Amino acid sequence: MPVTLIIGAQWGDEGKGRVADLLGADADVVARYAGGDNAGHTIAVGDEVFKLHLVPSGILHESASCVLGNGMVINPVNLLAEMDQLCSRGVDLSPERFLISSRAHIITPAHVALDRASERALGDEAIGTTLRGIGPSYLDKTGRRGIRAGLMQDAETFADAVHDAIERANEALINAGESPLDARATALKWIDAAMRLAPYIQDTSQYINRRLRDGARVVCEGAQGTMLDLDHGDYPFVTSSSPVAGGALVGLGFGPLHVDRIVGVTKCFSTRVGSGPLLTELDGALGQRLRGSGENFWDEFGTTTGRSRRCGWMDAVILRHAAQVSGFTELFLTKLDILSGIETLKIAGAWELDGVQHELPPANQQDLKRAKPVYESMPGWKADLSGMRHQDDLPQAARDYVRRIGELCDTAVRTVGVGPEREQQITLDDAL
Ligand code: GDP
Ligand code: IMO
Ligand code: MG
Repeated sequence: MPVTLIIGAQWGDEGKGRVADLLGADADVVARYAGGDNAGHTIAVGDEVFKLHLVPSGILHESASCVLGNGMVINPVNLLAEMDQLCSRGVDLSPERFLISSRAHIITPAHVALDRASERALGDEAIGTTLRGIGPSYLDKTGRRGIRAGLMQDAETFADAVHDAIERANEALINAGESPLDARATALKWIDAAMRLAPYIQDTSQYINRRLRDGARVVCEGAQGTMLDLDHGDYPFVTSSSPVAGGALVGLGFGPLHVDRIVGVTKCFSTRVGSGPLLTELDGALGQRLRGSGENFWDEFGTTTGRSRRCGWMDAVILRHAAQVSGFTELFLTKLDILSGIETLKIAGAWELDGVQHELPPANQQDLKRAKPVYESMPGWKADLSGMRHQDDLPQAARDYVRRIGELCDTAVRTVGVGPEREQQITLDDAL
C-alpha cells in the first residue's frame, strides 16, 4: 500500500476521521489535502474523544508524520488553538512529525467576515456554510491574490500582505453593509501566529515524494464529501475545494500511479448539514431516530458548528456516483449499529425524473429538484450490533442490507462500523 485515499462518499461527516485513525496505525504519513477547519473529524479512543478540524487524524499514532497539504486553506490562529489543545493532551506536534505546505493558502479574518456577509446577502438561498471563511479564501487563491503559508517564514512581508488583504476586503465589507476590520490590529495578531508556525512550513510535495521513494506508506485523509465537491457535488450547495480522489493528487502533489487503494467512506443512511437537496430526507420520528438525541457524541450534530444534521434513507444513486468519480476500490460503511430496531429499512436504488428511472444523479439543480427516489425495502433487525466483532455474528438481515449496498454501487463493503470506538468494526469477506 504505497498510497491509500480515504474519501467521503456522501455530504461529509461519513466517519473519515475514524477511518484515517484506523488506517493511520500502519501508515508512515497521514496527509490532509483539501478544505480547512470547515472539517470536523471525530476519533474515539477509550474514554477520550478527539475532534480535529485541521490536524490529520493520524496524529494519535506516534509513528506517523502528519501533513497539511497545498490544497488546504488554513486559519493560522485556529490551527494554533487546535495544536495547543492537542499538546495539552500529550500529543506530539513537533516540526519533525507535523508539516505544513508552503503552498497552502491562509484564511484571514477578512475571509471569515466575507463568508458571513455573503451568506447574509443570500438570505433564504444561503448555502449554509460553516462560516469559516473557506469560500472567500479559495476565491482569493483562484483570483491569484491569496496569501500562501510559505510567506509566514518572513513575518514582516506576511504582516504587510495580511494588512493589504484586509484593507481590500474592507471595501467589499462596507459595500455589503458590514463593519470594516482593524487591518493593523489583525496584522499584528497574525504575525504572532506566523512566527510560531514558521518552523512547520515545508515543501510537502517534495517531502511526500521523497518518503514514497524510500518506501513509506501514505494515507490521504479526505475532508467533506463527494456531494460537496465543487465540480461533482450538487452545485451551488457545495464547498469550494475538491474532496474527491483527484483532489488528493492535486492537493498533495504526487503522481496517480502511487495510489493502490481508494476507500469510500459512507454512513449506512444519509446525513447533510447546510442547505441543498437531500432526496431521501426523513422529517418525522424516523429522521429524529437516526439523528439521535444529542446525548452521545456520535449523534448527528455537526462537529464544527453544532448544527443538527438532516437525516434520511441510504441513497445508492449518490453512492454509485461517488464510487464512479473517485474509483473506490472498497467501501467502509459506518454506523450500522444505529439501524438496529428499525423494522423496515429503505434504500433509494434509482431516481425517477419525468417517468424515467436514473441510476446516476443529474448534473443540474432544476432536474435534481424534480427527481424522486425509487425505494426498495428490506427487513431490519433487532439485535444490538455494538459488541459484535465478526461477520458471522451479524444478523442475516444486517448482512443482506450491507451486501445490497455493495451490489447497488458495484463496490464491495470491506468494513462496517458498529460503534465509534477503534475496535467497534467488523472486517467482511466475500462470503458475507
Ligand atoms: P468525518 O467528518 O467524516 O470524520 O465524520 P464526523 O466525525 O464529523 O462524524 C461522524 C460521527 O460518527 C462521529 O461522531 C463518529 O464518532 C461517529 N461514528 C463513526 N463511525 C461510527 C459507527 O460505526 N457507529 C457509531 N455509532 N458512530 C460512528
Ligand atoms: P467533514 O470533513 C459536513 C458543508 C457546509 C455547507 C457547505 C459549504 O467534517 O466531513 P463551507 O464552509 O465549506 O463553505 O460550506 O459544505 N460542509 C460540510 N458538511 N462535513 C464537512 O466536513 C463539511 N465541510 C463543509 O455545511 O453545506
Ligand atoms: Mg465531520
